[in-house]
Amino acid sequence: MKRHILVTSALPYINGPIHLGHLLEHIQTDIWVRFQKLRGHECLYVCADDTHGTGSMLRAEQAGVSPEDLIEAVRQEHVRDLTGFGIEYDNYHSTHSEENRALSELIFNRLHERGSIFTRDVAQLYDPERGLFLADRFVKGDCPRCGAADQYGDNCDACGATYDATELGRPRSLVSGAEPQVRQSEHYFFDLPQFSGLLKGWTRSGAVQPEVANKLAEWLDDGLKPWDISRDAPYFGFLIPGTTDKYFYVWMDAPVGYMASFKHLADSRSDLDFDAFWNADAGTELHHFIGKDIINFHTLFWPAVLEGAGFRKPTRVHTHGFLTVEGAKMSKSKGTLIKASTYLEHLNPECLRYYFATKLNGMVDDYDLNFEDFVQRVNTDLVGKVVNIASRCAGFITRNFDGELAPELADEALWSRFVEASESIAERYEAGQVSKAVREISALADLANQYIAEREPWKLVKQEGTQAEVQAVCSLGVNLFRILAIYLTPILPALSKAVSAFLNVGPLRWSDIDQPLLGKRINAYQALLTRMEKKQVDRLIEASKAQPEAASAEATNGEDEGQALIAIEDFAKVQLKVARIAEAEAVPEADKLLRLQLDLGDGRRQVMAGIKSAYDPASLVDRLVVVVANLAPRKMRFGTSEGMILAAGPGGKDIFLLSPDAGAQPGMDVK
Ligand code: 2FM
Ligand code: ZN
Repeated sequence: MKRHILVTSALPYINGPIHLGHLLEHIQTDIWVRFQKLRGHECLYVCADDTHGTGSMLRAEQAGVSPEDLIEAVRQEHVRDLTGFGIEYDNYHSTHSEENRALSELIFNRLHERGSIFTRDVAQLYDPERGLFLADRFVKGDCPRCGAADQYGDNCDACGATYDATELGRPRSLVSGAEPQVRQSEHYFFDLPQFSGLLKGWTRSGAVQPEVANKLAEWLDDGLKPWDISRDAPYFGFLIPGTTDKYFYVWMDAPVGYMASFKHLADSRSDLDFDAFWNADAGTELHHFIGKDIINFHTLFWPAVLEGAGFRKPTRVHTHGFLTVEGAKMSKSKGTLIKASTYLEHLNPECLRYYFATKLNGMVDDYDLNFEDFVQRVNTDLVGKVVNIASRCAGFITRNFDGELAPELADEALWSRFVEASESIAERYEAGQVSKAVREISALADLANQYIAEREPWKLVKQEGTQAEVQAVCSLGVNLFRILAIYLTPILPALSKAVSAFLNVGPLRWSDIDQPLLGKRINAYQALLTRMEKKQVDRLIEASKAQPEAASAEATNGEDEGQALIAIEDFAKVQLKVARIAEAEAVPEADKLLRLQLDLGDGRRQVMAGIKSAYDPASLVDRLVVVVANLAPRKMRFGTSEGMILAAGPGGKDIFLLSPDAGAQPGMDVK
């Protein structure tokens, strides 16, 4: 029966370029989609950029462009990078689209009408200088649990505590540096607990992997909380209907972006019906591919929102783990934070598709990219085993038989074995166990190579009266290779295309597996895939080290990733001056603070510096330091601080004051 399937990958944020982490997911999705299409089903694959949030607004401001222009430039880059890896979307849209606005409003209005939305006042940190409420990622301060400095507003890197941003000690806005205030404002909530019963059933219905269902059961048993779906102006996003200063939280309209992208596609094609894929009783399938960090949004909020608004729920959410490189989190300094565009300058995208395919197992495990293993898998298994079958056989057919394949199969039983593997390989693809499909394909390639090695056509060809046998052996080799190429088509679309040109046939189709090519003329063989060189990988790593940080790569999830950049105009406001430490004393009640009296050439000023753990106060007297001279005075518990001295280092004993060379005078500008 022909299935009608709509598939999505998680929508990339616009805060950075596409990197190998995104590719793990989009390649995985593309393999599944191509498999479905190859099997003759209708399968539509949509995606979009995830554009909204404070971060987008600030980034556009800093770049001096409108958010719309920024979004479109990033979208084009994302599409270029992703499609460079053979990922074939039916549509790649944007969450900042009219379709998304209309659908988000419709969903909100329906939820509101059915009593699933309520409002409540929320206390939040507010940046008085910039006039905006601060998302957790835009504020840092001391952890309320362990006191570690420089922690974000949601959790502490040092002790793992989670907390509310309003609990931070010495909070500061990362947008302006100002000390935030606590302010109340009215927020809109989605009443998620209303849907607990529904979600308990849905999460156990086979819609998610068992390990995900178990995690969700824990959350469901703990009890769900209402979900805050609004953000105050100024914000880049869609206004909530009936308000003039409340916007949908980016995670509210992001999944609606899946619908919007499909709507945009359906509007451009007369054979596609939006309702057939989104109505509550739709007989079609909906599959989402996501990473494990966004399970809650896709398996709790999203199905509940869809249900509440009278739409269908996902058929299945396919969750994967993270990508590590050489056993560790991707890192810029090690050159393992690899951008898609950099990869494409050095290596063949099909190699990465193949390598990821050898890993995918349908579970939520993390996958590791190990460079040595990568090169070896591609060279040994793919080039050495699979492609080798064609290169060994084709030359004889071209040179000795004018490109014509034998009229019959030399070994019917061997050929049947290849054909009969079809269902088992298909089941593996369907279940996302691509690595198992690859193993079966590789085992078949071994059989083909063994067959050719035993027949030794290179010897037969030199003998009298064995020409027909050479043709038969090599023709079977070509036919076996063709079946393997069909099986590999979802993973290696470019190879598949090259094979169809070589075999002089149309696009490879799964349904042709049991129809051998007999008595047909094929084209001369041209290298289908070349071996990878380790030095290409080394160059890729070097090039990745040399590039500026990809902001999104280290980010996990959350509403607005990354720290705000500052414009040169902002930096120019900072006045750095040389100062001499005239007096220094410890603040006995504080763990970290020294009280310094600085001489800036124009009088004294007091600065409280958190350097007690590294410096004996007496040793500091008369030392020259660099100070931020125009910092607004801050009232602290142990006195007012009228500036900040510059130091480097991780903390503890390792704090190093930045000092001008001897000869600098107090009061000089630091350039
Ligand atoms: O985690 C992320 O990268 C999000 N931008 C994914 C959004 S997926 C969907 F819900 F829109
Ligand atoms: Zn802590």
